[in-house]
Amino acid sequence: MKTVSMKAIVCTKYGPPEVLQLVEAEKPEPKDDEVLIKIFATAVTASDIYIRSGRVKWSMMIPFRLMMGFTGPRKPIIGEVLSGEIEATGKDIKRFRPGDRVYGLTGFSLGAYAEYKCMKENDSINGCISLKPENISFEEATMAAYGGLLAFQFMEKANIQRGQEVLIYGASSTTGIIAIQFARYLGARVTSICSASNIEMVKSLGADAAIDYTKQDALDPQMKFDFIFDAVGRNKSSGLKKSLGRNLTANGTEASIDDENLKLDSKRLDLIRDLIEAGYIKPFIDRCYPFDELAEAHEYVGKGHKKGGVAITVCYNRK
Ligand SMILES: NC(=O)c1ccc[n+]([C@@H]2O[C@H](COP(=O)([O-])OP(=O)(O)OC[C@H]3O[C@@H](n4cnc5c(N)ncnc54)[C@H](OP(=O)(O)O)[C@@H]3O)[C@@H](O)[C@H]2O)c1
Repeated sequence: MKTVSMKAIVCTKYGPPEVLQLVEAEKPEPKDDEVLIKIFATAVTASDIYIRSGRVKWSMMIPFRLMMGFTGPRKPIIGEVLSGEIEATGKDIKRFRPGDRVYGLTGFSLGAYAEYKCMKENDSINGCISLKPENISFEEATMAAYGGLLAFQFMEKANIQRGQEVLIYGASSTTGIIAIQFARYLGARVTSICSASNIEMVKSLGADAAIDYTKQDALDPQMKFDFIFDAVGRNKSSGLKKSLGRNLTANGTEASIDDENLKLDSKRLDLIRDLIEAGYIKPFIDRCYPFDELAEAHEYVGKGHKKGGVAITVCYNRK
């Protein structure tokens, strides 16, 4: 039987962006409980940089390599975010049909740096998918899936009430940008912390106030917040970030994006889609690269200063 191929980008050993190679790979076929997605767009996230480079904190090195592979990722087609169209469905599939436009995350199965990916319709550690918001591009949908799932996971838990004061640290990250808009949707007053070059952007997304973390080491102690969300993680800090604990109200709570693992949850993707379609949330794309320039995108994201997200167009031919 003739094998049908697809384009994919593989990472066969840990290293700099140049380890990413464009290859012809076997096009997957859906099992009875799988859908076949024709991927239109993927994204390069901070997590992809760890997976490609293999560079994580020393304390995490052994668990990371046990999980991912010793000299390179065990699953050479990496990539965790996708949006595209269902091309075919296995006989047991109930939620989707061919032609549906979807967005989601591939979890431990990775595989989004390719033209096609098979996924189960039910959520698992190997991913979650839902119908994509209709009013945004496939590229924007990748940001919505990644930043949206992370922001909603931590902010839903915070039980933010109308009129509360919320502070988003790292407001210019993929997750921070969605967190600002979700907090505003919930009726909170939002203060954002980012660098000077991103202040106008975060204000244009609805932040009531924005503060440059490079210019001051502490906030006025009179400023009090009911919820403080660190949207960039523990590896990125500043004098200002370290001092924020004293700006919590007596019952205030704080959370870091690194506090718990990302939950792959298609119900949450449905909620994100509804809020995007209702106009409350819009993802932000810093740069978009063609598929064959994915290594360049890794180079850029690896510098750690992207605004919002970096998308990759895998297929331009969309009906
Ligand atoms: N819980 C989970 O399962 C999970 C999953 C995925 C990711 N994460 C976490 O999410 C983090 C963010 O990922 P990402 O892809 O959204 O973003 P990212 O690319 O790591 O963040 C880029 C943004 O962070 C800002 N930034 C850099 N250094 C900063 C600092 N010291 N203080 C404040 N802002 C700073 C940059 O703007 P400026 O440089 O202009 O300030 C830029 O806009 C990851 O690093 C990881 O820790 C967690």
